[in-house]
Amino acid sequence: MMKKISKLALLTGGLAILAAIGTQSARAAETEQVFQFYCSQCHGLEGKGDGPNVTKDFPVSPRNFTNAEEMNKLTDADIRNVVLDGGPAASKSPMMPPWGKTLTEAQVDSLVKHLRMLCKCKGKQG
Ligand code: HEC
Repeated sequence: MMKKISKLALLTGGLAILAAIGTQSARAAETEQVFQFYCSQCHGLEGKGDGPNVTKDFPVSPRNFTNAEEMNKLTDADIRNVVLDGGPAASKSPMMPPWGKTLTEAQVDSLVKHLRMLCKCKGKQG
């Protein structure tokens, strides 16, 4: 296992390490790191939709994950879908990139939990 990880890391650098960590477990600190690395430039470090990439010329605002009212309109499956396949998969803006080729399923699942923590909401059921 270690051998495989170091080989991967050599091939693709730091990203592979993050990915390997993500598959092993979904511990909160690691998820936080994944979020900061991949999502915060648009969604903000605290998920308020105010990352440094966002200027007034941004055509749509990245979702504010602390807005429980908005986040309650989405099921966990909706979030998973939009994170894996990007905005257009959910009839949303292509400004929201697809992450299915970058993140593992386990990382996406833990990101869903992370967003639920930020909104302090359970989301739409079903
Ligand atoms: C390049 C900027 C950018 C990055 C990076 C980004 N997003 Fe987004 N995201 C957006 C924008 C813009 C929207 C709003 C799309 C819309 O409303 O049409 C959005 C919307 C969303 C939504 C809400 C979709 C909905 O149906 O309301 C979720 C969930 C989401 N992003 C999760 C993530 C996660 C998790 C990451 C990190 C893996 C991430 N985003 C990284 C720009 C980004």
